[in-house]
Amino acid sequence: MTDPGTDEARQRRFDAMIAADERIEPRDWMPDAYRRTLIRQIAQHAHSEIIGMQPEGNWITRAPSLRRKAVLIAKVQDEAGHGLYLYSAAETLGVGRDELLDLLHQGRQRYSSIFNYPTVTWADVGAIGWLVDGAAITNQVPLCRCSYGPYARAMVRICKEESFHQRQGFDILYSLARGTDGQRRMAQESVDRWYWPSLMMFGPPDSESTHSERSMAWNIKRFSNDELRQRFVDMIVPQAEALGLTLPDPALEWNAERGHYDFGTPDWDEFMQVLKGNGPCNRQRLEHRKAAHEEGAWVREAARAHAAKSRARQRAAA
Ligand SMILES: [Fe+2]
Ligand SMILES: [Fe+2]
Repeated sequence: MTDPGTDEARQRRFDAMIAADERIEPRDWMPDAYRRTLIRQIAQHAHSEIIGMQPEGNWITRAPSLRRKAVLIAKVQDEAGHGLYLYSAAETLGVGRDELLDLLHQGRQRYSSIFNYPTVTWADVGAIGWLVDGAAITNQVPLCRCSYGPYARAMVRICKEESFHQRQGFDILYSLARGTDGQRRMAQESVDRWYWPSLMMFGPPDSESTHSERSMAWNIKRFSNDELRQRFVDMIVPQAEALGLTLPDPALEWNAERGHYDFGTPDWDEFMQVLKGNGPCNRQRLEHRKAAHEEGAWVREAARAHAAKSRARQRAAA
């Protein structure tokens, strides 16, 4: 029998837990590569949540009614909360939130490339909710069964909130599609703008995806990029019909043999360009994030001072 204290024995225990589809918790030993993969993925996810507040936050002051405004504020605040759960999940892996934010601000960690597109009309708020949050749900529901416990648990609540986000986006487009000719046109144009970028949210095709295979072996990822993209297209086609809007994809067609919709290929060159920092809003998003962080410095300082004072008071009382 091998000594249970050796790395070899620990690795074997870890492999057995993964094979049995058990959850890995922060107290458990885990291979370095598993820890690094999770930190990279959870950080990228957290960054996407907080950067994702910007395109829609941009419309809070111009929402067309009090009701729409209240709903949009709630949605944008949810995204801040998602960031919070996810940074906390990453912290259980031994990195600090400050450290991760520094990496984001230095451009050394990524966020989802979808948020580098501008929101040019109110209808874009609808299209983001319907398509972008819809793609996020498709990606994230399987993550509720991810092998790393804290990440899986964070996703359960996030997915519930994302369903509300998708619903509110659909509702915005539904109203516009039944409004004046101008409103209808505005809704259609926003769907034309966001359809392809939302398909890109699932990442490159499986044949070119660098991290996919290992993440699937570790039960972090349950389905491949292409499988998730297919699932998303199958979901949105009937929803587009209900909206009375057209998806801008001439290749879109029901394939009875496969039992799925066929669809076109996104422009992967554009995807790579946006990923490299050359999207329409990359620079603006990062500058805004850094400015918000600097402007919030006094809040962090005040929180630290308050915590120190409470500790001192407790000590004095003891
Ligand atoms: Fe979110
Ligand atoms: Fe969302």
